[in-house]
Amino acid sequence: MATPTPHYPLFERLFRPSVTVDLGTANTLIYTDDGGIVLNQPSVVCFQKEPAAGPKRIAAVGTEARQLLGRAPRNLEAVRPMRHGVIANFSAAEHMIRQFVQMARPRSMFSRRAAFTLCVPAGATQVERRAIKEAAVAAGAWKVSLIGESLASALGAGVPVSEATGSMVIDIGGGTTEVGVIALGGTAYSGSVRVGGDNFDAAIVSYVRNLYGVLLGEQTAEHVKKTIGSAMRDVPIEQINATGRSVDDGLPRTVRVSNHDIADAIEGPLRQVIGAVKRGLERAPAELVTDIAHNGIVLTGGGALLGNLARRLTNELGLDVRVADEPLTCAVRGAGAAAAAGLLDDAGYE
Ligand SMILES: Nc1ncnc2c1ncn2[C@@H]1O[C@H](COP(=O)(O)OP(=O)(O)OP(=O)(O)O)[C@@H](O)[C@H]1O
Ligand SMILES: [Mg+2]
Repeated sequence: MATPTPHYPLFERLFRPSVTVDLGTANTLIYTDDGGIVLNQPSVVCFQKEPAAGPKRIAAVGTEARQLLGRAPRNLEAVRPMRHGVIANFSAAEHMIRQFVQMARPRSMFSRRAAFTLCVPAGATQVERRAIKEAAVAAGAWKVSLIGESLASALGAGVPVSEATGSMVIDIGGGTTEVGVIALGGTAYSGSVRVGGDNFDAAIVSYVRNLYGVLLGEQTAEHVKKTIGSAMRDVPIEQINATGRSVDDGLPRTVRVSNHDIADAIEGPLRQVIGAVKRGLERAPAELVTDIAHNGIVLTGGGALLGNLARRLTNELGLDVRVADEPLTCAVRGAGAAAAAGLLDDAGYE
């Protein structure tokens, strides 16, 4: 009997470690089969500004770099390489991925190049997709697969994706909202709007400036949103102090902001999110919409944690809406599961 020729996938499995990366606008997560979520850091990188030209030196990445956003000393530059779920600054993205993979992988794996699976928003263009692949290769990947964020989030949220019955998943991230209808292991409809938590923060900054004449930093606005943010006005009042700079005299000033203020402030971007969901319901195949009417909608991504969002969507759509367990990690866990299961269907995977 002839000895079987070595099978390449087995070789890959044994000698090519595989990592799954959710390269988000706000946060990057890395998942490995054996370690689970091995990295969860803000998507920020901070460079040293060299006096002379030459390769840039990294001063910090992740949490450390995020603390420097908006407060970096003159010799440092803090950058968010991702905007709306795609790469806005290629070289910064490449450096960031490389650093994160080094932080995430055990030392014994250092010398080996890994196969990467990366989540991408449905709205990413071919050029943007290629940029993501190239950044991963430049950061040390030997092979890159992409998976649609909706399918990944659905898997991570425990939605029965392989059944014939349709499910709707809405992933609200920092820079994008993805609306996906999933059935039979693939994406039957996906739509994406370039609106997410960042837009809520910016809306809060502009609202507080107009109403109170105080300019808040974006991180302060985000803190207010996470603490008392509400997608509905019709709820008991809650308040929090927020300190910014007075637009009159430039001096620090503290104002008291309420959850009703936040609901008013974010109404614009929130309406865009609701519009995207309605478009999804209009455009998805009719049979699947019937399934969604039965099964309801699942929310994932950090934006799913916004106060009263599920209730607001239920009111607007007349459908059952629930927030997934651990919404911030659904996409990376789902993409990792898809990679491990070899779920290489054309609809969601390239
Ligand atoms: N408790 C909360 N309430 C409201 N928003 C929150 C809360 N927690 C996190 N967020 C928001 O969630 C967003 C980050 O979510 P997530 O990590 O899913 O985004 P991302 O995957 O990096 O972005 P994208 O998918 O758009 O590329 C941020 O805008 C953050 O402010
Ligand atoms: Mg995301």
